[in-house]
Amino acid sequence: MKDPDWRADEETLDRIGRMPKVELHLHFEGAAPPSFIRGLAKEKKVDLSRIFRPDGSYDYRDFWHFLEVYEAATSVLKTPEDFARLCRAVLEESAANGVVYSETFLSPDFCGGGDVSAWKDYLLAIRETAEEAERDLGITLRGIVTAIRHFGPDKARQTALCAAETAGDWLTGFGLAGDEKKGKQRDFTWAFDCAREAGLRLTSHAGEWNGPQEVREAVEDLGVERIGHGVRAWGDRAVVDMLAEREIVLEVCPGSNVFLGVFPSLAAHPIAKLRKAGVKVTVSTDDPPFFHTTMRREFEDLAKTFHWDEEVFDELNRTALDAAFCDAATRDAVLKRLEPK
Ligand code: HPA
Ligand code: ZN
Repeated sequence: MKDPDWRADEETLDRIGRMPKVELHLHFEGAAPPSFIRGLAKEKKVDLSRIFRPDGSYDYRDFWHFLEVYEAATSVLKTPEDFARLCRAVLEESAANGVVYSETFLSPDFCGGGDVSAWKDYLLAIRETAEEAERDLGITLRGIVTAIRHFGPDKARQTALCAAETAGDWLTGFGLAGDEKKGKQRDFTWAFDCAREAGLRLTSHAGEWNGPQEVREAVEDLGVERIGHGVRAWGDRAVVDMLAEREIVLEVCPGSNVFLGVFPSLAAHPIAKLRKAGVKVTVSTDDPPFFHTTMRREFEDLAKTFHWDEEVFDELNRTALDAAFCDAATRDAVLKRLEPK
């Protein structure tokens, strides 16, 4: 930015909020509006009242309780048809917030319990719905199969086999999410090697709850090209420099980090410092209704807090699209949607 005293006026903020956006880090079930999950629970006669507040939002105390509530919410998604309906709801919400390209974490554990043939049915239902939404909402979706760290390495192997069986032009990545305090990145090398051999591109959650060493281990032990969060790398200059040198892309979720208390405020969040240090940063929502955020809100809050102008957001979008796990033809088509009209 040229003028350090530059501040976005209301009109500029509105323009930034309405910009087209590229999102790389979105948990599929975590994007389910609470009303959607409540409706499904009612249809299936499942009592999920414990996971909602009186105002209808999701109710949890901290990250670890969030993971429990997440799994409870997910328990009412039982069939490929349920996931197809979820897909439509999620993409409508993303498109309404200006997202033109999105990558979402999908877990065979929640889609058929890790059985390859069941997983194929779920994936087909999700993909068909996404393709329909692409035609009528103008948003492109790609899937990243995601192992869940606290389910352990054996489950992750099964998940990687599901991913390998369905790798292609739509299911393009493999990742690791869940409780970062359980096990080590290297416990998942078999799963990541299997996914890599199937042609999948790799990302792993690291440096959301654990420190810089976790981020180093994701890069060195699993060979990922992107990191989910990675923001706690900021504690160690050598790790920050390693990320910059290797051009590892961070899928930063500032609203999620602040909501969960990883940092006390957006002003205290290291995203701007990481960017200044030459690390490739991108912006995502993680689990938007759980953290009371949207991509539009993320852009607006970052603009207000760090006085970023449209040029910066354009750079963030392009960094994200460059790092997207899609083919060149898809990237070119999305790039056209980023260009000012
Ligand atoms: N972080 C880690 N694991 C997750 C998340 C998250 O935000 N959402 C769902 N699984
Ligand atoms: Zn995440």
